[in-house]
Amino acid sequence: MGVGIRDNIIDEIKNRCSIVDVIGRHVTLKKTGNSYKGICPFHKEKTPSFVVSDTKQIFTCFGCGATGDVIEFVQRYNNLDFPGAVEKLCEEYGIEIKNANFRKEQDKTALYEINREAAAFFYRAFTKMTNPGYEYMKTRGMESATLRKFGIGYADGEWDSLYRHFIEKEINPQTLLELGLISQSKGKYYDKYRNRVVFPIINTRGKVIGFGGRILGDGEPKYLNSPESPIFLKKNNLYGLNLTRQDINKENYVILVEGYMDVISLYQQGIRNVVASLGTALTENQAAMLKRYTENVILAYDADTAGQTAALRGLDILHKAGCKVKVLHISDGKDPDDFIKKNGKEEFLKLAQNAMPFADYKIYLLRQMLNLDTTEGSVEFLQETARILGELSPVEADIYIKKIARETNISEGAIRLEINGNNNSKITRTSNAAPVWDTGRMGQYNESAIGFGTMLEKNLIKLMLLKSSYVNRIKPYEKVFQSSSAYKIYELILSEYKEDEEIDIKKVEDSLEAEDNRLLRDILENIQLADKEEQVFQDCIQSIEEAGLAKREQEIIQIISMLDDEKDRDKIEALTIEMMKLRKGKTNDR
Ligand code: CTP
Ligand code: MN
Repeated sequence: MGVGIRDNIIDEIKNRCSIVDVIGRHVTLKKTGNSYKGICPFHKEKTPSFVVSDTKQIFTCFGCGATGDVIEFVQRYNNLDFPGAVEKLCEEYGIEIKNANFRKEQDKTALYEINREAAAFFYRAFTKMTNPGYEYMKTRGMESATLRKFGIGYADGEWDSLYRHFIEKEINPQTLLELGLISQSKGKYYDKYRNRVVFPIINTRGKVIGFGGRILGDGEPKYLNSPESPIFLKKNNLYGLNLTRQDINKENYVILVEGYMDVISLYQQGIRNVVASLGTALTENQAAMLKRYTENVILAYDADTAGQTAALRGLDILHKAGCKVKVLHISDGKDPDDFIKKNGKEEFLKLAQNAMPFADYKIYLLRQMLNLDTTEGSVEFLQETARILGELSPVEADIYIKKIARETNISEGAIRLEINGNNNSKITRTSNAAPVWDTGRMGQYNESAIGFGTMLEKNLIKLMLLKSSYVNRIKPYEKVFQSSSAYKIYELILSEYKEDEEIDIKKVEDSLEAEDNRLLRDILENIQLADKEEQVFQDCIQSIEEAGLAKREQEIIQIISMLDDEKDRDKIEALTIEMMKLRKGKTNDR
């Protein structure tokens, strides 16, 4: 074959070699807004006027006028010719040059030209006269302007009208076969797209690289797509990106859908930061392409299981590419096209706003799949969750740990243990790093109804109001202020607090709402410390710590009950030792 290999390699280079990365190896670049700035390597200067755009993948020097893409940079910087620069980049980025001939091939221009001509042929048939393709798209609610924008066409019902069109132009059938425009059977050629609506697939350089043809109505196959060809590498393209990339950049997020119709339907409704992965599993290259325009991706795949499975895989790929991914759930209808037609733009944007972040979504699916009421279910959930959280930063993971503990009856300790067990390097063991009582779920303290305080809370508040020097000593334990009124009072005390001055109780009172004031009055009138402040303080601290230990003990018991006697023998032993120490500590240390 050989045709156009060169172009594939160039696409591959442009996808894989980020210009910021390549130039960043030679020039110190500083991020400014959407681009990077540095001292121009091509002329002498003191203040940086050399700009590299991640989005556009080009460099420009406002001082000397040098400009170009990643290959041109390498050419200039290393004094290489074009093939030399290509070779160098391929070597550095591990891109295989499959065909040593890549230097002399430029016939891809011919292939693009043929595709462009085919697109124009289909477009004319779609726009010139009434035809079933146009009628079909009308019944699907598409407006002429949208259809024109996307260059939608119609392949008529004849066997060979496109073929004849090209033969008149003396185009070699072999080339048409290679592009998937015609097929061959029993020595005869016939058009591949017949009686279908044709969606041209256009790359960001405006070249028609392939086609998708939809049957009018029901029938199989629903879509016929161009085969891979020297100019059409599916893994390198996203449908719609040629039209939507500016909007994606501007909105700083992209809605990633599955299908052609989803893209043009959302676009028609005014949601223009959209692209489609075209039903295939999302590839790393596609993720890298998107990331040039934005790192925020909302996956809006079909509501069916196939769509959800695809979403799950896409999620991982995007996450690995460094994108912040969320999953949008289509709550009505089968896909984004369906939904937006029924509910309109605003409702769709609401779905986007409520899209679930990466980890939430995965955990949500796990909870649907597993029965957390059984030990097996819980253990599996725990293991899977730990794997998911192990991918996150410790800070993020911690938020999820707390949330999961709140929503399931699995303790924070069990989740942490599992993450650390699987992933020692990634997450520091927070159960050791943080004070043991730092959990926010100490049964004994939040039994109090909202609005009323526990004795512990009341005593601590009273201490601070009596002697402001307690404020700083109590601060490390502020998590005990669980009831909302107590917490509000505590916050106000903190904001009123000045060194060497007592708290102005009146001020606190004035800033509180009536229901919170009830607690304050209660504390002022009913809590008597009888000059034993220090003693009361020590008792409070001790009971906080004991509660923490008791809580940890509870956790340990729960974890042990979920572990496997045989498989997890080591873990069980370690936990048992920890528990024995906890119990001993309680009786001995004080
Ligand atoms: N697809 C395909 N071949 C098929 C079915 C689907 O290539 N036989 C691809 C198409 O790119 C399609 C995408 O997968 O756009 C999503 O498939 P689907 O949801 O079935 O199609 P829709 O895009 O929703 O198309 P329509 O609304 O016209 O049914
Ligand atoms: Mn659809």
